[in-house]
Amino acid sequence: MKTCSRSSPQTASKSLEALQAASEIAERKRTEAALQKTRDELERRIEARTAELTGANERLHLELLEHRHLEEALKKVQEDLEHQVVARTADSLKTIELLMKRVIAERKQAEKALQAAEQELKMQRALVIHSDHLRSLGEMAAGIAHELNQPLTGIRVLAEHFLIGLDRGWNLTEGRIRDCLRMIVEQSDRMSHVIDHIRVFSREAGRPEVRPVQVNDVVRSGMDMLDIQFRSRGVELACDLAEGLPPVSANPFSLEEVVLNLLLNARDAVEERLKEEGGAASPHILIRTRAEGGGEDQRVNMEVIDRGVGIPAEALPKVFDPFFTTKGPDRGTGLGLSVSRSIVEGFGGIIKIQSTPGQGTDVTVSLPAMRRET
Ligand SMILES: Nc1ncnc2c1ncn2[C@@H]1O[C@H](COP(=O)(O)OP(=O)(O)O)[C@@H](O)[C@H]1O
Ligand SMILES: [Mg+2]
Repeated sequence: MKTCSRSSPQTASKSLEALQAASEIAERKRTEAALQKTRDELERRIEARTAELTGANERLHLELLEHRHLEEALKKVQEDLEHQVVARTADSLKTIELLMKRVIAERKQAEKALQAAEQELKMQRALVIHSDHLRSLGEMAAGIAHELNQPLTGIRVLAEHFLIGLDRGWNLTEGRIRDCLRMIVEQSDRMSHVIDHIRVFSREAGRPEVRPVQVNDVVRSGMDMLDIQFRSRGVELACDLAEGLPPVSANPFSLEEVVLNLLLNARDAVEERLKEEGGAASPHILIRTRAEGGGEDQRVNMEVIDRGVGIPAEALPKVFDPFFTTKGPDRGTGLGLSVSRSIVEGFGGIIKIQSTPGQGTDVTVSLPAMRRET
């Protein structure tokens, strides 16, 4: 049996306190040890992190240095470049200035040459128009000879009739004499009309003053000039003229020259086909007028359509060139279409040609209509 020594209550309390103190000390030591461990751990980590940061810092520093070097190199390159650009720009400016001077001088020279060429062209054109005009007059002469010959023959027949009557002692009544004299006056008027026409034509066609013109009147007048000549050569000339066409702004005699040129070309084409094909060809020419469009864009078109030899495709683009002709020197000057075009364009119009070789040709002159007064 275990025996317990009995102590006093004071002694017991003291030993309890001592025990508590010892346990607190032990506890604090543990805590301190744990704290130290944590502190050591922290320090280790801080050291590791510091080492890491130092390494990173060094790398950054190196990169920065490298960057700065690069920047400096770049700046140098840029500066070099700028120097070069400035130097080259100065050179280029000088070159450009020289070039500009040369261009301006050349341009001035070219302008002078152009002016001279234009002057020359004007003169040539006037000459061309003049020579074609003479040719038209020459061509008209044949028609005029026919035109004048008829009334002249009439007058001669009447005069002979009187002379024979006087010789043979016919008893001519006053009424009969009056009739004959009236016929002589009529025939003389007809001749005067033809002569007037050729006179005005020769005077006016060369200097085209414009006025309102009825295209149908011009067509009729041109046909009158050539009708007898055509008929005597076996070439049929017909017309189909639209009623009530608006007037155009033109010179009637210049426009008549165009009509004559186109009709003469058509005649030549038809005669050539007749020569080639004989009776199989139809020696037919039609001249047609029509209004086209309306309002401000209204136009008056005149077409000359022939059933002649036509124009080969390779010649078609050249027919308006001055002096282009497929006819012998006695028949063609190569000026008809080029002069016609300059006349028509002078009145604000256009002239077009369509052709099928072996079948015929269609030339259209299209002029802007004058606006009717409202
Ligand atoms: N209606 C036509 N039919 C066939 N060929 C034509 C016709 N009109 C013009 N040509 C061709 O265009 C050429 C030029 O015509 P043009 O300038 O009037 O000159 P030219 O009649 O004096 O030859 C003619 O030589 C001819 O070859
Ligand atoms: Mg011609």
